[in-house]
Amino acid sequence: MRIALSLLLLLSPLFAHANDPSSYAEPDKVRIADLGLDLRVDFDKKELAGRADLRLSWLDPAHRVLVLDTRALRIEKVLGKSGDGVWRRLKFELAANDPIFGSKLSIAMRRPYEVVRIRYRTSPQASGLQWLDPAMTAGGKHPFLFSQSQAIHARSWVPLQDTPSVRFTYSAHVRTPASLIALMSADNDPAAARDGDYVFRMPQAIPSYLLALAVGDLRFAPLSERAGVWAEPSMLAAAASEFVDTETMIQTAESLYGPYRWGRYDLLVLPPSFPFGGMENPRLTFATPTVIVGDRSLVSLVAHELAHSWSGNLVTNASWKDMWLNEGFTSYVENRLVEAVFGVEQAQMENVISQYGLQQDLATLAKGDQLLALAPLAGRDPDEALTDVPYVKGAWFLSFLEQRFGRERFDGFLRGYFDHFAFQSISSDDFRAYLNTHLLAAAPDVASAAEIDAWLTQPGIPKFASAAHSARFAAVDSAVARWLKRRIAANEIDTAKWSTQEWVHFIEKLPKKLPAKRLLELDDAFGFTGSANGEIAQRWYPLAERSGYFEARPAMASFLKRIGRRKLIMPTYEALAASKDGKAFAQRVFATARAGYHPITVGSVEAVLGKPGK
Ligand code: BES
Ligand code: ZN
Repeated sequence: MRIALSLLLLLSPLFAHANDPSSYAEPDKVRIADLGLDLRVDFDKKELAGRADLRLSWLDPAHRVLVLDTRALRIEKVLGKSGDGVWRRLKFELAANDPIFGSKLSIAMRRPYEVVRIRYRTSPQASGLQWLDPAMTAGGKHPFLFSQSQAIHARSWVPLQDTPSVRFTYSAHVRTPASLIALMSADNDPAAARDGDYVFRMPQAIPSYLLALAVGDLRFAPLSERAGVWAEPSMLAAAASEFVDTETMIQTAESLYGPYRWGRYDLLVLPPSFPFGGMENPRLTFATPTVIVGDRSLVSLVAHELAHSWSGNLVTNASWKDMWLNEGFTSYVENRLVEAVFGVEQAQMENVISQYGLQQDLATLAKGDQLLALAPLAGRDPDEALTDVPYVKGAWFLSFLEQRFGRERFDGFLRGYFDHFAFQSISSDDFRAYLNTHLLAAAPDVASAAEIDAWLTQPGIPKFASAAHSARFAAVDSAVARWLKRRIAANEIDTAKWSTQEWVHFIEKLPKKLPAKRLLELDDAFGFTGSANGEIAQRWYPLAERSGYFEARPAMASFLKRIGRRKLIMPTYEALAASKDGKAFAQRVFATARAGYHPITVGSVEAVLGKPGK
């Protein structure tokens, strides 16, 4: 028994590096070391066309097949080049499409080629690209294209090993209409000539989900020597003003976790159909315009995406079951940056809101999905792991460690962790082993193995965790209580100094359902219906719908048509879907909104409303 166990332990590193179930690739045999893209951006056909050169590093030189991930790509020709410099045509086989994982591309070869060249075109329906007509942009004159590769959509615009366990450097040559600018998650030059011909180099090895491209009528405004913002001309001034604190955030992060290693840090403001809040594409964070609300109250999004420059982009989850290593660490660091730059009250308010969201999520999630270290996502769409659990429970776990070990010790630990695993892809087990030797071992009674286990491998939030608290929210709580008991009228509540977070908390503290007349009173006092602030709208409209406050419906419809950010609009679709009449209304709205939504958002809405005609 003993012998068998130690044999197993000896062999366990082999199992630990089992291939990522979200990818067809076989990185234990061969890995992409460098990618060379040469692409034409065709807005009429809504396609990228050109070639990808994959420079390979063969771990198993006897292996004779290169397996890649693709989705809806038209593969035209595959060539291989070895030491003699001659390109030879290679046979390939493209498997039938799997709705979650796409088509496995197998390239057979007689020898381990150094470079494989694939000529291909994307589909207009590529899940990782959104092609916008001019009407869907702020300027209304030029089309726009952007990519969103995380989690497994890079394969819909580049044939590659679409797994975060493989890192590669890349270069790109991108041709666009001459009036447009192309930007990538690479060395964008703010002063590049606007001529439709752009070259990029990303000298640091990144995983496929960080591959990014955007094309549009974009202008640049500097925020500091190394930071700046790109946006459509009409958005640029507001964006630059909203994001003024970016350089301070970078310096704060550096003082905590070591140098920013990526050169420039720029932000790109996308059209409102961008399906996420932000995306940490290296050197060029993609951001939703919905955080530009005028008072900088939502710039924790910048703190978040910037934090990924350490947690995620430097130290990466090897597969999506361990996404908390990316998002939980990032949410923790985000909150530390918010605290340092905007003060502890702001950080506490944001924590209370996040933990409330997590509790809501936990109420509907299966036990198995409530763990930080999830079981392998074999056969499952990795987007299913995209809940508040990796984000908020992950950050909560790290706050727990910080409280137990003290800030100074924990900060030192995290800094060492980012250095130790820089440019590597790791699992929860790797983290745990590092935690044991570098934090727990020297102080075994500060946190027990059972407590760590509770966080990583048990559902829910451990009983011994302490919840976030906000003194500023206490005032909101008492206002809500008095208004509900009709001690005061809505317009008597002192809201003069409230920021987005207080408004959000106010709405979340209301009962799930109220008489419509009472919502009308709130609307008369505060004008929630039609609010330009998406964080308020995403909470108000579901309450309005549950309460039968149908006066909100027209504004609700225009909100759903204007914005494609999933997190903001899904709660309203879900609330509408709960009644027959609401669902019919939602289906009518969706029918007109659909053409403007990103494929990812279309998928989410269809999951709630059903596909049209069904
Ligand atoms: N990397 C994520 C976005 C993501 C995760 C896209 C998984 C696809 C799959 C990004 O850093 C993120 O977390 N964005 C948040 C904003 C943040 C402030 C919590 C979002 O989009 O809401
Ligand atoms: Zn994130």
